[in-house]
Amino acid sequence: MTERPRLAKTTLALLLAIAVLGLAPGTGLQAGAAKKLEIFSWWTAGGEADGLKAMFEVYKKRFPGVEIINATVAGGAGTDAKAVLKTRMLGGKPPDSFQVHGGAELVDTWVKTGFMESLAPLYKSEGWLNAFPKDLVDIVSHQGEQYSVPVNVHRGNVLWFNKKIFDENKLKAPATWDEFFKVAETLKGKGITPLSLGDKNKWEAAHLFEDILAAALGAEGYRGLWTGKTSWEGDGVKRALDTFARILNYVNRDHAAFVWDQAAQMLIDRKAAMNVMGDWAAGYFTAKGWKPNVDYGFAPAPGTAGLFVVVTDTFGLPKKAPNREQALAWLKVAGSKEGQEAFNPLKGSICGRTDCDPKKFDVYLQSSAVDFTKNALLPSEVHGSAAPEGFATIFNDILNLFVTNKDVKAAQAALQKACVANKMCK
Ligand code: GAL
Repeated sequence: MTERPRLAKTTLALLLAIAVLGLAPGTGLQAGAAKKLEIFSWWTAGGEADGLKAMFEVYKKRFPGVEIINATVAGGAGTDAKAVLKTRMLGGKPPDSFQVHGGAELVDTWVKTGFMESLAPLYKSEGWLNAFPKDLVDIVSHQGEQYSVPVNVHRGNVLWFNKKIFDENKLKAPATWDEFFKVAETLKGKGITPLSLGDKNKWEAAHLFEDILAAALGAEGYRGLWTGKTSWEGDGVKRALDTFARILNYVNRDHAAFVWDQAAQMLIDRKAAMNVMGDWAAGYFTAKGWKPNVDYGFAPAPGTAGLFVVVTDTFGLPKKAPNREQALAWLKVAGSKEGQEAFNPLKGSICGRTDCDPKKFDVYLQSSAVDFTKNALLPSEVHGSAAPEGFATIFNDILNLFVTNKDVKAAQAALQKACVANKMCK
């Protein structure tokens, strides 16, 4: 009888100690100090969200006991996420790791400004200099040190089509924009919208135009746009804009009301026959149960056979990452064969690494992996690699204005001005 109150007293004292000192019973750990990891991205759509989840599962298996905070800000191509990230970074509250495109978006925006930790030691310890192609390592490097881990390679220049609509109408994937116009006329004659577009967030129209530019200029001409060698006011860009204006006659009228995945959905719903988008669209189709060469067909965007517009998502380590240890563990998973093989088949991209097992990927992604090794690789401007952020923002605005006014001369002059303003050309 006398024992009870004493026991109760001891328990009370222990509970008090836990509350005051933050001691978790029996663990020797501080209460409320469960390990955390916050990963920031804009992957919310079908396919990309699934891929991210799969990579989280690999992390949880390897590093149990860490609470993962999936900080996503919706909006394709990071339309809204990049602004939120900027506020957090400048406010000294970075996530532990964040999605960032290799190239200018990483190097100009975050590395040169001193916000990122060098990952050179990690590249050494993980053997990544041999695991990734040199081209990828180069675009995540600055002054010989690496600053992020490429988790994938997307192809930006792909034409997707509803296979059944094409078969029913005995159509073949157009290899050039001239062929596209013929196919589009046939489809239009049957009351089918030839090309779906959803450019509510602006970048989607710019993305389509980027692919048209590659077709009009070829590899060298296209590369020259970012170094000042190819004039924005020259014939090549004029041809591209003329073609773009013509293409716009074949897109759904309500394009400004939709975003990229809704435009992809239009193919599934038979509301349109074709779509031009990066291969995250393949991830979207997979998430919807659509199969390559059965439900949908694919081909290089018209006029771009032999060219591969590279879009690479990478993760880095901000200097003030609150959970640095967990962030380093995350980067190890993101750069690992296991992590990449779990992520990419769902995401609709190929591995950044060169040693992934092709059997884990569908026929579309297998073909993309082959093309990546054989084609001329071109940096994407819309997806952060080719040009500084200042140019990318204006580029989207100019192209969106063009979609409504189709003023070729005005667009060329504005592009040239933006090129000079961003010190890409004189
Ligand atoms: C790209 C990104 C892809 C995909 C796409 C649509 O910028 O690299 O991973 O997320 O936007 O959101």
